[in-house]
Amino acid sequence: MSSQAPALEFRNVTHHFPAQGRSERLTVVRNVSLVIPDNEVVSLIGPSGCGKSTLLNMGAGLFRPSEGEVLFQKQPVRKPHPQIAFMLQKDLLMPWRTIVGNAEYGLELRGVPAAERRKQALDVLRRCHLAGFENHYPHQLSGGMRQRAALARTLAVSPKVLLLDEPFSAVDAQTKMRLQQDLAEMLVDEQKTALFITHDLTEAVILTDRILVMSDRPGTILEEIVVDLPFRNNPLKRRQLDAVNPYVRRLMNLLQIAN
Ligand SMILES: Nc1ncnc2c1ncn2[C@@H]1O[C@H](COP(=O)(O)OP(=O)(O)O)[C@@H](O)[C@H]1O
Ligand SMILES: [Mg+2]
Repeated sequence: MSSQAPALEFRNVTHHFPAQGRSERLTVVRNVSLVIPDNEVVSLIGPSGCGKSTLLNMGAGLFRPSEGEVLFQKQPVRKPHPQIAFMLQKDLLMPWRTIVGNAEYGLELRGVPAAERRKQALDVLRRCHLAGFENHYPHQLSGGMRQRAALARTLAVSPKVLLLDEPFSAVDAQTKMRLQQDLAEMLVDEQKTALFITHDLTEAVILTDRILVMSDRPGTILEEIVVDLPFRNNPLKRRQLDAVNPYVRRLMNLLQIAN
């Protein structure tokens, strides 16, 4: 595959949820087209309920678009794809499994032999700074550590594309900075492509190459902002650049948060 081929593409995607009882059919996303080239990290921001999670669910092959299509390396995504992993705000770890057991789960589903999947899971836990916690259960970890474990679980299957739905919105500010740093380093080191939903405007600026701003429901893409700043692999450093503020201000204006 040429490195120019888009990793993930949404082509004229519209999504309706069916009418229920007296409520009419709800159009949640309208005519969204976006192309994410290989190794690019894109964020999606927009008001609550504008269809961001619905878009990500379609990217993950969990919902089919009502109109249009989602493509991975030019092939339609019609069901969950082994190269596309999804991570949610809620960690969704299995409480009855240890951290390494959770990290292994996706490999287990793929039939990777026990010894091999243990080796890979331990490796991904180390990369996610969870060495020493392999045999803990989720309830023994802090919220930030659980999000790390959820990230490890997402990365364990070596996906090309990561879909991240507000992954750090429930952790405290300083833990969030560390998680952002680890994620950013990993995205660059492992050449991942990502689509990242966040409500945190600074987070969008420091973690991503491009920001898509969505309208109220039915969500459409209002504006695309290319983040022309260095240090995408080092958000702690990018955060300190004076040039971050003008981007945040522009996003606030687009979202009508400030005047
Ligand atoms: N399974 C569903 N059935 C019906 N309506 C839904 C369903 N999932 C989400 N919605 C509605 O679709 C809209 C967009 O939801 P969502 O994509 O979660 O928005 P966002 O992530 O941008 O906050 C909301 O109004 C929500 O209530
Ligand atoms: Mg959402």
